This record gives sequence, C-alpha cells and structure tokens, in this order.
Amino acid sequence: MLPLHQTRATCGPIIDYLWEKVKYPFLVFCRLVTCHFFCIYNLCSMYDAEQKLTQVLPELARESQHPQVRDALLQHEQETRQHVRNLEQCFQILNQQPMALENYAVAGLKQHHDTFLQQQPQLSALMMFDLGAGCQSEYLEMAAYNGLIEAANSLGLQQCIPLFQQNLQQEEAAAKKLSMLAHQLSQQAAL
Ligand SMILES: [Fe+2]
Ligand SMILES: [Fe+2]
Repeated sequence: MLPLHQTRATCGPIIDYLWEKVKYPFLVFCRLVTCHFFCIYNLCSMYDAEQKLTQVLPELARESQHPQVRDALLQHEQETRQHVRNLEQCFQILNQQPMALENYAVAGLKQHHDTFLQQQPQLSALMMFDLGAGCQSEYLEMAAYNGLIEAANSLGLQQCIPLFQQNLQQEEAAAKKLSMLAHQLSQQAAL
C-alpha cells in the first residue's frame, strides 16, 4: 500500500479530472432536486392554504353587511374551490400524493381574525378588518403562485403552469376587488 502523500500525488490529478467532468451535471442535478423539493413542498402548503380558505371565505361573507363585499367574498370562495381542484390536478400530473402540511401563514391570519372577533367589534369595523385580512391572504397566495410558476418552469412541468397561472390571475383579481371595496368603504366612512 502506498503512503498517504504518494496516494494523494497519484490520485489527486485523476480526482480533479473526474470532478471537472461530472461537476456541471452534478450541480445541475442538485439544483433540480432542490427545485423539485421546493415545488412539492410549496404545492402541499398551498393545498392546505386553499382548503382552509374555502372554510374562511364564507365565514367572512356571513360577517359582512355589505352586499358587494359579501358577493366578492362568495365569488372568490367558488374560485378557491377551483384552486383546490387545480392543485389536485397538479398532484396527479406529478404522480404525488399531497402530504399533510399546515400552512401557518393562513392559519395565522385566521387566528388574527378570531382574536379580533373576541374584542366584539362593531360590524362595520369587522367588515373592514375582514377586507384587510382578505387582501393579505390574496397577496400571500400571489407570492406563492409566482414561486410555483418559476419552479415549474425550471423543472419543465409545462402541464402545471396553466393551472398555477389560472389560480394566480384569480388571486390578483380578488386582491384588486377587495382593495377597491376597502377603499370605497373607508371613503364613505370618512364622509
Ligand atoms: Fe386561491
Ligand atoms: Fe385567494
């Protein structure tokens, strides 16, 4: 057996040569594994978020006295049910079962709402709070879908992209509508 310093001297250049050959595909492979994990993890997280929101949106609609706010929330509840189905279709495309993963951001917004409700606010204050919470949830979803579209593009998951895009467009429209209603109502309250 060769002494260690001789082994290094003999094998070092061979290892360097082999590493140069495999370095690029190896790093690409690591990046794809990381990206795939990111995509699946965020998909599971959004699946939980969307399911939670199908419960929360009708609750917020019931709390609203304003027909336009109620209609906007109920319309987005229907869209959110479609978002859940779109994500289920993505799981089928990826041949993956959704793992149980709590989305703490949406759970936190719900907790925040429940804590505010315990203060027994006036209905008008509760509706403004709910509109704000609704907007926060839409921005959170928009950021998540933008990330999922990026990841799906990197991984070549072309079939998932239109499903994420449909969800994203509806989140953007809902954010715009809820922000506009919040603005109108706060203007009216100021008169
Ligand atoms: Fe959604
Ligand atoms: Fe949404």
